[in-house]
Amino acid sequence: MKRKKSIGIFDSGVGGLSIARAIKQLLPDENLVYFADIEFSPYGNKPQKTINQRSEDIVNFLIKQDCKIVVMACNTATVNSISDLRSKFSIPIIGVEPAIKPAALQSKTGVIGVLATEQTLESASFQLLKSKHIQKVNIETKACPKFVSLVESLNHDNKQALEIAEQYIQPLLSKGCDQIVLGCTHFSFLRSTIDRVVGKEANVIDTATPVAMQVKRQLHHNDLKKISDVEGVIEFWTSGDPIKATESISELWEQDVNVAKAELIT
Ligand code: DGL
Repeated sequence: MKRKKSIGIFDSGVGGLSIARAIKQLLPDENLVYFADIEFSPYGNKPQKTINQRSEDIVNFLIKQDCKIVVMACNTATVNSISDLRSKFSIPIIGVEPAIKPAALQSKTGVIGVLATEQTLESASFQLLKSKHIQKVNIETKACPKFVSLVESLNHDNKQALEIAEQYIQPLLSKGCDQIVLGCTHFSFLRSTIDRVVGKEANVIDTATPVAMQVKRQLHHNDLKKISDVEGVIEFWTSGDPIKATESISELWEQDVNVAKAELIT
């Protein structure tokens, strides 16, 4: 069997870099291809049909870049499109969804909070996930559209971000939430701001590391691990403005990178 080369990772924008970072840490030898769909960002207010079509076009693009596995580093795309994609593609597709289960298991107050995009919270698969845990805990949700634009514009660590985080999170803490689930990959980059609001009142749950561990298990399970142990490389692509994307991705990846423009074929 010919061994394909890379792990493809995508998101509507830069948020999925939080998952890419965890994958790079856990699997430093693997080659990564990251796709930021900035032309269509945000996904959080788009209809499911649009997200499905974009996700399918991106997976096709990543397969053309010789990806052996695809990681949907986006809760919104996962909850809306993963079943559809898995039925269309034969390569393993891994997704990320709000970590309600661990939050419910760890909660002492019996109230947990989920921060996500509107489209994630409204999706049928999120409603299903919620219904599985609703007997044990109260689940409070908050759509946080401004968080996504704060991260995309690199304004995630300033006074404005703190004020917006207070508006979103305080009501959840007032309702007794002792677990705050980050149900959008962009929110990882607001972690220090979110921690300042939450303080010791609640535990913040991020899913980047568990997703990276799932990628490792799937590579092993499907016999797709890279054979050589030379350090992996990462390529960045965007559907948006490559100059702006180079600036934002270099900042969040904490390394100077080049982002290439990708034309998706529908
Ligand atoms: N980062 C994405 C998520 O995890 C989506 C943000 C957006 O485009 O609205 O849901």
